[in-house]
Amino acid sequence: MPTRIKRIGVLTGGGDCPGINAVLRAVTKTAIHQHEIEVVGIEDGFQGLIENRTRPLTWADVSGILTLGGTILGTNNRSNPLKYHVGDDENGEPIFINAIDKCLETIETQKLDALIVIGGDGTMSCAAPLVEKGVDVIGVPKTIDNDLVGTDLTFGFTTAANTATLSLDRLHSTAASHHRVMVCEVMGRNAGWLALHAGIASGADAILIPEIPFDIDKICEFAESRTTARRGFSIIACAEGARPKGGEQVVARHDPTSADPVRLGGIGAQVGSQIMERTGIETRTTVLGHVVRGGGPIAADRVLASRFGFRALKMLVGGATGRMVVLDGVRLSDVDLLHAANKQRLVPLDHPLINVARAVRTSFGD
Ligand code: F6P
Repeated sequence: MPTRIKRIGVLTGGGDCPGINAVLRAVTKTAIHQHEIEVVGIEDGFQGLIENRTRPLTWADVSGILTLGGTILGTNNRSNPLKYHVGDDENGEPIFINAIDKCLETIETQKLDALIVIGGDGTMSCAAPLVEKGVDVIGVPKTIDNDLVGTDLTFGFTTAANTATLSLDRLHSTAASHHRVMVCEVMGRNAGWLALHAGIASGADAILIPEIPFDIDKICEFAESRTTARRGFSIIACAEGARPKGGEQVVARHDPTSADPVRLGGIGAQVGSQIMERTGIETRTTVLGHVVRGGGPIAADRVLASRFGFRALKMLVGGATGRMVVLDGVRLSDVDLLHAANKQRLVPLDHPLINVARAVRTSFGD
């Protein structure tokens, strides 16, 4: 198909996740092999677009990267062109500027006819003003949190859920041997998808997710009932965004230079120490943290990332812009990029997986 697009830029924004390189490979190889389109890699997400840091992506550059974790381009979850941190004032307060014009300059200098942006809700919202300025942009949904509105699945999630599951599996044997409660905190931001999937897959006894605030008394009763029973141990999969009824999420850190300054973390330790204090049962807490984000993608994510990358390139060639590729059931489709910007897809309270878990007596602490 003839196309006016001769040269495209591709960037990866937000936190990395398994499968980004598989998208880069699919985009670049399809562009070169089927359309003779040149591909330019933009380094470190929107920061590279603002600072005009790019490099060509050749066939050789993307060969052998299908199975690699992270992103060969580098990424950044702090640089938002609408609120770009350029230093601090005399009181130490961060100074932000609107750097959209800098992005447009790079697009012009690099002679880019279009952009593919791989990222989460933050990346899509950074891309939206470029679409408004007339840049052709297609988004590819990426996050281990699986919290992007508009798509049933983001690539990277299945691998992260798998890693969390394997870790929870390992906690089982040591929990059983010592008759302990093991609390395992997993990432996921404000959504409970990772804890829910990993908890069900590993047979966790309790799953705490942000969408269902927990009652610590109920969790303690549950742990006590299991400890006095024959199988005297409990595994609790705890989302980093989980919170007690009437309470707040636990914030590990604030990054004032980031457009999304809150970093969650610490609820697992709080739940663990409260269980130990109230019940006397020996309790330990493990925080999986960035372990679930690292490493190469499992087969399902390699396939999904390849499908997304191929589809994004074909959409650009077909003249589409301002759209994000999505998975709708088992089929690929696309939605308005703005639909996904700055929103989060949380676990609905009537989600079938919650019933599946409750049916085998998994507690949500409610
Ligand atoms: O959005 C991906 C994610 O890994 C979240 O699950 C987590 O809350 C956050 O990023 C951690 O961010 P950082 O890498 O800045 O610590």
